[in-house]
Amino acid sequence: MIKVTPDTRLLVLTGAGISAESGLKTFRDSGGLWENHSLEDVCTPEAFARDPRLVWRFYQRRREQAEQAVPNPGHLALARLETWLGGNFSLITQNVDGLHSAAGNTRVIEMHGSLAYCLCTCCGARFPMREVDPGSDLPSCPKCPGVLRPDIVWFGEFPHRMEEIDQLLHSCDVFLVIGTSGVVYPAAGFVMTARYLGAKTIAVNLNPTERNHLIDEFHQGPAGEILPRLVDQWMAG
Ligand code: APR
Repeated sequence: MIKVTPDTRLLVLTGAGISAESGLKTFRDSGGLWENHSLEDVCTPEAFARDPRLVWRFYQRRREQAEQAVPNPGHLALARLETWLGGNFSLITQNVDGLHSAAGNTRVIEMHGSLAYCLCTCCGARFPMREVDPGSDLPSCPKCPGVLRPDIVWFGEFPHRMEEIDQLLHSCDVFLVIGTSGVVYPAAGFVMTARYLGAKTIAVNLNPTERNHLIDEFHQGPAGEILPRLVDQWMAG
């Protein structure tokens, strides 16, 4: 078993799987989000240009669902881990549901954006959704005549804070990947980079993924059951 101590620089990457036990759909599991929506219709800049109201409806529904969700034991275990490791803990999430922050994590990089925010397509200003007219099917910018878009990184766009992520990949001792199918880049490449740069790799996932050959220690099962146990073991030394 790979040791994690208070001196370990631990970098965590999460995907939709860690929020599944909070009742939020993943993308590629059966019944997932991409079963009812084609990526091209709701998750690209072209889709927004073609039908912004459809895209807003898709994200408003996901935002309402995320607002109903609460952190599960997997999220809470990562919050405990940050309290224990302090500055040696960093969390990159592909999720946009805000559940890591709701669980108490502060050292979080939301590389794919956040359902709780939107951006102006004209002046670039960023607003919390609570400041935007919830009833509007095409919210407009309070500061300029621009149209607002969800603060979500769409396919073909560049994820947020990649320079910070690159520094973290270069400096971590252990890379822990949780609840992601590992098919969407650049996140899918992080485990190979971390391993190449000398980190030990641990994965927690319901099923093995096509990245499992890069994993030193694999824990199969629900993150909400495995993570609390794993964190207890690490903290017990
Ligand atoms: N515990 C652990 N893992 C789980 C659980 C669970 N309770 N439930 C599902 N999983 C696993 C699935 O087996 C799968 O490997 O989580 C993974 C979810 O994979 P995806 O649905 O592909 O989600 P994700 O990897 O986060 O997608 C990455 O793709 O569409 C884009 O931007 C979107 O951020 C998303 C990115």
